[in-house]
Amino acid sequence: MKYSLVLKTNSGSVSNIMIGEALQSEFQSLLHKIKPTKTVFITDETMVKSLHTYCSPDNKSVFILNSGESEKNFDSLKRIIQFFFDQQIDKKSLVVAFGGGVVTDITGFAASIFYRGVSTLYVPTTLLAQVDAAIGGKNTINFNDTKNVLGTIRQPNHILIDINLLHSLPRRQINSGMAEIIKYGIGFAEELFSYIESLKKIDAKAFLHLVRRSAEIKVKVVAKDQDESGGQRKLLNLGHTLGHAIEAQKNQKLAHGEAISIGIMFAAFISEDLGHIAKKDLERIRESLEKFALPTRAYFDVKIALENILHDKKKAGESIDFIAIKKIGHSYIQRLTLVELSAYLSQFSL
Ligand SMILES: NC(=O)c1ccc[n+]([C@@H]2O[C@H](COP(=O)([O-])OP(=O)(O)OC[C@H]3O[C@@H](n4cnc5c(N)ncnc54)[C@H](O)[C@@H]3O)[C@@H](O)[C@H]2O)c1
Repeated sequence: MKYSLVLKTNSGSVSNIMIGEALQSEFQSLLHKIKPTKTVFITDETMVKSLHTYCSPDNKSVFILNSGESEKNFDSLKRIIQFFFDQQIDKKSLVVAFGGGVVTDITGFAASIFYRGVSTLYVPTTLLAQVDAAIGGKNTINFNDTKNVLGTIRQPNHILIDINLLHSLPRRQINSGMAEIIKYGIGFAEELFSYIESLKKIDAKAFLHLVRRSAEIKVKVVAKDQDESGGQRKLLNLGHTLGHAIEAQKNQKLAHGEAISIGIMFAAFISEDLGHIAKKDLERIRESLEKFALPTRAYFDVKIALENILHDKKKAGESIDFIAIKKIGHSYIQRLTLVELSAYLSQFSL
């Protein structure tokens, strides 16, 4: 079974998305159709073997990052740009990102600034990247301890989401991706949340459904509000205010989705306190996250978390736009003063 989706933004850019199993021949057909002057590949040390099995690139055309969040930095960006120069890519070349969200984020950034934009094809290989990071055109790196502070918005031209690539993905990373899928359910689609609650095991059919529904939701939101100016796209940040702040703390060992899981629970905690969701919904949210062995509380330094939140892009004067939950399937923007936020953080930290 194959699905196609088109993300057409209000600024006119288009991402063609294909979702399915074993898409190697679709990958080759795409290259044939695009006919780039040159194709180069960015991947990481974990995925380089799979890349060679998937599409047999010439060794010289492959740039390999170390694996992990710490690679999303200025130095790696510079090395990728140098690689583009060494490979003599031009405006008609194609840059393929083959990996998780770290690879797609930094590749997208490098490709968006090289000659002010070279075409990209993403093959996301983690569940998290398939349902979230690869879609929507946010291309970023971290700077000092602040997540995603440097970047551009530019849509990848093509995204090939092959769920067979998830076979090698460790359970912990699958669970990390589930956090973002649960986010879509809580924030946008009650039926997706109920589906997750009722899941007994995730087989290929379930993966296809989860990935497809998540992609549809993200496409719909980004199509209306690519630049986060209309409020809609901000809602995708459910769980990310505290999630990013925890992720940015030095020596934290959490996967992205694990940090987001704690952030989702924080949003649920505030939403219950504000009287929007009932205690039983708070428990449903906790259970859905725990079902995938995701953490729902953590110790964090409140002062540092607050500083990180202030560095993050959600600040507006002395308040922040916090994404809260009106009811399961519906999120909204709640203005919180920094005093209120600080009090909630103190109550929530273990
Ligand atoms: N741009 C966006 O809109 C957006 C949205 C959400 C998250 N993100 C970013 O995405 C990043 C997190 O992405 P991630 O969770 O994919 O992390 P990641 O890219 O670090 O991948 C996690 C680990 O899994 C390994 N891996 C990847 N594919 C594999 C496979 N098929 N089999 C075995 N191992 C595999 C990687 O090498 C890495 O060690 C964060 O930097 C986050 O900020 C971006």
